[in-house]
This record gives sequence, C-alpha cells and structure tokens, in this order.
Amino acid sequence: MAVDEHSDRGRRLLRVFKGEHEGPPPLWLMRQAGRYLPEYRATRTQAGSFLDLCYTPSLAAEVTLQPIRRYDFDAAILFSDILVVPHALGQSVDFVEGEGPRLSAITDVSELRRLDVGRARHKYTIVAETVARLRQDLPREIALIGFCGAPWTVATYMVAGRGTPDQAPARLFAYRDPAGFGELVDLLVATSADYLCDQVAAGADVLQIFDTWAGALPDDQFERWVIQPTRRLVAAVRSRHPEVPIIGFPRGAQALAVRYALQTGLDGVGCDTSMPLHLMSQIHRDAQVVIQGNLDPLLLLAGGEHMRARARQIVMAMSGLPHIFNLGHGILPQTPPENVRELIQIVRSGVDA
Ligand code: CP3
Repeated sequence: MAVDEHSDRGRRLLRVFKGEHEGPPPLWLMRQAGRYLPEYRATRTQAGSFLDLCYTPSLAAEVTLQPIRRYDFDAAILFSDILVVPHALGQSVDFVEGEGPRLSAITDVSELRRLDVGRARHKYTIVAETVARLRQDLPREIALIGFCGAPWTVATYMVAGRGTPDQAPARLFAYRDPAGFGELVDLLVATSADYLCDQVAAGADVLQIFDTWAGALPDDQFERWVIQPTRRLVAAVRSRHPEVPIIGFPRGAQALAVRYALQTGLDGVGCDTSMPLHLMSQIHRDAQVVIQGNLDPLLLLAGGEHMRARARQIVMAMSGLPHIFNLGHGILPQTPPENVRELIQIVRSGVDA
C-alpha cells in the first residue's frame, strides 16, 4: 500500500483530537470489514468459524486490511468482536449462521464465580498479536482503532444468552438484583480495561467503546449502568495510557448523550442514525468532545442522489467542529461496495462538490 497516497493528509483522525480540524472530516465506517466485501466472505470461509477468524492473528489482520486496500479510509478498526470478552472469561459463545450469537445465559449471581479474569487476560494476548501485526503493516498515516463493548451492552448478551429486541433479561436482572448485576458490570469494567490497555500497548492509536444497547434504559438506569461503568473504564485506561483518545458510542441515547459526554471523560462521542444534527453540535458545545457519525447505513445501501445529499448535509452541519465522518451504525451486508467508494469521494470533496 502506497504511503505517499496518504501522506498529505497526515494522521488526520488523530489530529482532530488535538483540536486541528480544518478541511473535510476524517472518515472510517463501523463494520468497514465485513460481509459486504467478497474478499471478507472468502477469508471468512477459509477461517471456518467466526471466532476462529477473530482468534487467528494472520486472518484477523488480513480482513482488517481488506477495506484499507480498497478505499481511502483514515482509520482501520481491529477485526474482532465485542463477545470475545465473555468468551475469554470462559462463557460459551457461538456464532450461529443466520441467527447471531448464542451464549450460555448467566441467570444468577453464582454463575459469575465461574468467570475467570486471569484466563481472559491470557486470551487477550492473541488479539494483541493481531494489533501488533496491523500496526506494523499499516502506514503511520492510518490510525488503528482498538475497541471493546461497553460493560452494559456486553452484559445484555451474557445475561440473555443472545441478542434481544429490548434487553429485557438484563434489565430485569438489574432491577431484581442490582448488587449481583453490579458484580457482573464491575468484572466487565476490570477485564475490559485490561483488554483495551493490551490493545494500546500493542499499537492501537484510538479506542472505541461500543454501547449498542445504551438506549434501552430509563435515565436513572442509564446513569448507573451506562455512564458510571463507562467513566470507570475510561479512568482505568487513562491511568495506564493517559494519551489515547477514547470514543464512546451510546447508541440510542438521544438527549442523554449530552450527560454521557459530560460525565464519562470520553474524548469523542459516536452518534447513531437517529441523533438529530443539531443535537450532535450541542454535544460538542456542551462537552467539548469530538463528534462522530451519523449517516444511515440503509442510505449507504440505497445509494444515489439521496445518499450524496445527506452526506453533504452532515458534513456541512458539522463543518468547523471536530467531526469524524461515520455511519450511525454498522455497514449492512447487502451494501454495494461501489456505494462506499462514492460516499468517500463525496465526504473528501467537501460540501460544494
Ligand atoms: O467494525 C468493524 O469492522 C470491526 C469488527 C467488528 C465486528 N463486530 C465484526 C463482526 C466490531 C467492532 C463488532 C462489534 C459488535 N459485535 C457489536 C457492537 C456494534 C454493533 O454492531 O452494534 C455488537 C453488538 C456485536 C455482537 C455481534 N457480532 C452480533 C450481534 C453479531 C451477529 C449479527 C451480525 O451482524 O451477523 C456479530 C457477528 C459479527 N461481528 C460479524 C462481523 C463482521 C458477522 C459475522 C460473520 O461474518 O459471520
């Protein structure tokens, strides 16, 4: 991959966190490596299971680099999954074709004793090896993003044993036994901090904490299970790596995203598709954080003039602010790869193209 191609842009994604944000916003897309790319599907078949792909550094690095070879992104995101953490802790995790993840559900607090933070740390060395390979293979100009799931979102899968539409099993557990649920969340804060720090030590430049189900909670529970654990996770990472920028993605948080930005100590807030553009600028104004987002992934799939117009509208609304262009959620598997190329051109060419 030619370094020259990117050198004029420098490390644009990292510079946004230092207050330098002239010109078009830096850009990457959630799930930029994935099933919409034929080369991903080929490597995925070669790997066998999805977890084998996550735990084989050469293959995980390969799929991370696939979108970077094709497109002019400012960042690569480590290929892994948020459910690697429960798996590393010793919970059984399986990705069933066409159905999504299946875990052995944690139904009461006694089952927490079986989770093993020491075993997890050992498993994280495999992911750190992928990160180290990537940092070596990527041009310096391209930021490498490490990630984990937020304690609340990971707990929803651990308790339900699968994805659920309303996260009812975890919400009920938290209402009936807040101390027990708190134990699970504390354990996730500690092990996720280890996991993120291992990624930074191996070469990750930026971190993202995915809180996909943040929007399922009323405000008191949001404070307790989203804001507080995230603040502790951020503080634990900062105590070991004070410089690394950390982005949070509290999907569905809506107006609570302002409080989230103010109280967690995060450097950036990822905004989902339903976040109004004026609220995105307000989050920046109130909390001085970098804003990321938020094109509808369905509009990227649909493509055409509507996609081009909305992408320009987002860039324009955020111009002058520290903004990282992204989707409001991950790329959908049916997305035509050429739409991604077109989107990047539109964002790069600025608003008057
Ligand atoms: O963004 C990237 O390109 C990096 C890789 C990445 C994956 N998952 C790969 C993946 C990241 C950052 C994730 C995060 C993740 N995983 C989240 C948070 C973000 C979000 O999308 O809300 C969540 C909730 C998960 C859990 C998860 N992983 C589910 C529910 C599923 C099944 C649903 C689906 O999309 O298939 C996965 C599987 C998964 N993770 C795939 C990929 C590319 C598809 C599996 C396959 O290739 O067979």
